[in-house]
Amino acid sequence: MSYDLVIAGGTVATASDTFSCDIGVRDGTIVALGHDLGPAKETIDATGHLVLPGGIDSHVHIAQPSGEGIVMADDFASGTLSAAFGGNTTVMPFCMQEKGTSLRQTVKDYHKLAEGRCYTDVSFHLVISEPSEQVLGQDLPALIEDGYTSFKVFMTYDGLALNDREMLEVMSVARETGALVMVHAENYDAIRFLTDRLERGGHIAPKFHGTSRPIPVEREATHRAISLAELVDVPVMIVHVSNREAMEEIARARSRGLKVYGETCPQYLVLTEKDMDGLNMEGAKYVCSPPPRDTASQQACWEGLSNGIFNVFSSDHCPFRYDDPAGKLIPKGRTSFRWVPNGIPGVETRLPILFSEGVGKGRITLNQFVALSSTNHAKTYGLTKKGSIAIGMDADMAIWDPKREVTISQSLLHHGSDYTPYEGIAVTGWPVTTILRGQVLVRDGQLVGKPGQGGHVARERSALAAPAGQLPTSFAPAGRYR
Ligand code: URP
Ligand code: ZN
Ligand code: ZN
Ligand code: ZN
Repeated sequence: MSYDLVIAGGTVATASDTFSCDIGVRDGTIVALGHDLGPAKETIDATGHLVLPGGIDSHVHIAQPSGEGIVMADDFASGTLSAAFGGNTTVMPFCMQEKGTSLRQTVKDYHKLAEGRCYTDVSFHLVISEPSEQVLGQDLPALIEDGYTSFKVFMTYDGLALNDREMLEVMSVARETGALVMVHAENYDAIRFLTDRLERGGHIAPKFHGTSRPIPVEREATHRAISLAELVDVPVMIVHVSNREAMEEIARARSRGLKVYGETCPQYLVLTEKDMDGLNMEGAKYVCSPPPRDTASQQACWEGLSNGIFNVFSSDHCPFRYDDPAGKLIPKGRTSFRWVPNGIPGVETRLPILFSEGVGKGRITLNQFVALSSTNHAKTYGLTKKGSIAIGMDADMAIWDPKREVTISQSLLHHGSDYTPYEGIAVTGWPVTTILRGQVLVRDGQLVGKPGQGGHVARERSALAAPAGQLPTSFAPAGRYR
């Protein structure tokens, strides 16, 4: 029987191996690996190129309401288009519950925004901002059952921050239901204190965003999140880790046998706090939380990618336009960094930066690159048919030209932002062709896919979310794993 698609002549890399072979695809699934596979309706010649599992970006923000008068720069069409051009086949955005809206309604609303518009596959996480009885007792367990098997909680941000009691409540639900908890770890009160004092001293420029959220703010909250998770014996993912001290909290927890996972992002590898130091409002282009740190922190994050402290490398793509009163230049932002929308675009540049700075410079291996950019995301979040090149898996692949030299520039990118914080960074290695479930989305740098080609993927519970079975007190929380 002939194949729908054969990718021939390439060097295939997975999280564990690198080998030369052809890949046969039928009905969107990888059905053969070998040589001389026989007839195919279409053959793509990948000679001289790498064939990698399609990138999975497990931390992106698309079309999220972001405060009064602020509009996120990407909808599901532009966000997933940009992702596809960056070698990704799946992104994981958030259904962010706003106070006063039910979690069920939130999920419906995001599906409506995504429906028919996506180029890549998407799989939603939830964000819990209001852990009411209804959410904890009904909606969250039901949604987890429906395949939304992870959710994020915030320890900071007005309207989102949960207190420690609320953190324990939602973590307990995760334990009972097998969901994975993602934590944004920064100390809310400390940030508010520092922000007030900075403003009082007239320190209102974007660069003071970094000053208002120094490393101890992140380190303390990381420690606290881990301690709370330990109390109810639930695994946690600490997202967007920016520095060594937070990494040390993760390492210490693991040495005690706890299941604590880590994520870092491109901004912590190639940006520093100094980038926020721009003239006038230019620094706003780099405002994100936690803020980029210094070169020693960059070095630490590279070590964490290499030594396994970080399971996943995500973009935390959170795009706003710069030259726009509904974006970074919101009028209130001139009165204080406090009002500058937090977040930067990066879904299209995540993989080239990691490939070039990581594999190209010998900091990580090609197989680690695959693990950090795709395989581990699938394993961590329960995307059981994605993240590898193996028989029976979705035919999600990116063909890379490992020698292509590109200088990152806004003019090359497909996101809705009007700038990239990575402007001018020279990289070697670029994804040229992206294939989603056997259908070509991007071919030799040209769009051939259509909106609606991607769809929503419900997930299994991840094995990584199963409790460690280790409690620090005689209190034993109830739950399916007890
Ligand atoms: O500044 C950031 N990272 N904005 C996105 C929201 C979040 O906390 O991940
Ligand atoms: Zn061959
Ligand atoms: Zn966050
Ligand atoms: Zn984020």
